[in-house]
Amino acid sequence: MIQLSPAEQETIYGLAEKILGISQKGKFRKNILVRNIELRISQTKRKNLSEYLNLVNSDKMEYCRFISALTIHTTNWFREPPHFMELEKYLKKNMPKIMIRPFVILSAACSTGEEIFSLGLLMEKVRREHPEFDYRLVANDIDPVSVSHAKRSLYPKQEVATIPKQYYSDILIGKNQFEDFFTVSKNIRERITFTNENILHLNFDATVKFDVIFCRNVLIYFEYENIKKIINVFINRLQPNGILCLGHSEALNAPETFGLKIIWNSSYIVVKNHAETKLPEKKLNPVTSAPSSPESYREDSNKYETLAHEITPSPTMLASLENKPKTILVVDDSITVRKVLQKLYEQHGFKVLLAQDAKQANNLLTTHFKDISLISLDLHMPEMSGQEWLSQIRSKGITIPVIIITDA
Ligand SMILES: C[S@@+](CC[C@H](N)C(=O)[O-])C[C@H]1O[C@@H](n2cnc3c(N)ncnc32)[C@H](O)[C@@H]1O
Repeated sequence: MIQLSPAEQETIYGLAEKILGISQKGKFRKNILVRNIELRISQTKRKNLSEYLNLVNSDKMEYCRFISALTIHTTNWFREPPHFMELEKYLKKNMPKIMIRPFVILSAACSTGEEIFSLGLLMEKVRREHPEFDYRLVANDIDPVSVSHAKRSLYPKQEVATIPKQYYSDILIGKNQFEDFFTVSKNIRERITFTNENILHLNFDATVKFDVIFCRNVLIYFEYENIKKIINVFINRLQPNGILCLGHSEALNAPETFGLKIIWNSSYIVVKNHAETKLPEKKLNPVTSAPSSPESYREDSNKYETLAHEITPSPTMLASLENKPKTILVVDDSITVRKVLQKLYEQHGFKVLLAQDAKQANNLLTTHFKDISLISLDLHMPEMSGQEWLSQIRSKGITIPVIIITDA
């Protein structure tokens, strides 16, 4: 694998600072960053950093992966539980004041979504006890790959065990091709908006004011100058008496200088708003369909069917394969998608071959050429894109039908 020279490493730190605003002082983080970029250079088969940066400049997908490589996404369900407990107490205590309009929470730097969905599970619990209570959730992260994962809202089934049992009524375990995954109820999902932005310049609908902002385990990557900017951005986006919740290790030294007062561990209430641009406050759109009773898995199966439909070949295509040996080659760099497709196709009686990139696909195509009746192909793959690979096989006269899959 390629090793970046000290000068090249500096280039990477400089880019991380310029694009994300994060500092590279921590030695541990620096190593991760360099390793991630070295890995991308070798996965994309570029000879050096300069070739790789040219690719990043010319290929949108690689730009996304580059941002992902520059950021750290560790997260989990109900991380730092006291914040959730305090928020629940606050909601219950202030319910009469809160019920007059939807309560709006932002999860800033939400990573792959576990934080916002944990908040959603808590909000649904409160809503069951106070049916007049309503809420909206906004989740933001600079890493498009993490945001796309969060939007997909599918998590490995074994993670359910890390969620307190009191929330299980809003957890939906997948069936059939989704049996290895779970999601949260539609009530929660339909109240969330995801955005892909830098918290230093949060532009998300400026007319929306938040009641609570969770921004945890991200300020540690910033220098104080940028921390100040971010805190001020948040204060301007919070309601009067809104709450800013930071990670346990990110407590502010002099919160009063920002017009904040500590209320719980590393969480603050806005006691004095900064000079802000006065904008008419937005009336939030009603949720399209929000059944008040907890829904059953059955009610939610539409979503699963829709998802499955997006990645399922049409019945006519399947019927046209009836007389051929039933083998499908699935080419996709995401292990989750490969697993879902494998289950789906196997249910239809197909044998499934899996390839994570063009190279593996070529090997399988050579060894199983006579058996493969259909190819299911991801467009966005790291080394060679699905489109390039498809042109290559077509130019060799291979006419096997192809289903294109993309989450763009
Ligand atoms: C360690 S995770 C924290 C996730 C979650 N808040 C938690 O506490 O579990 C840090 C996240 O911050 C995001 N991030 C880093 N710099 C950012 C920026 N300038 N704007 C928005 N998100 C950023 C990263 O992409 C990453 O997903």
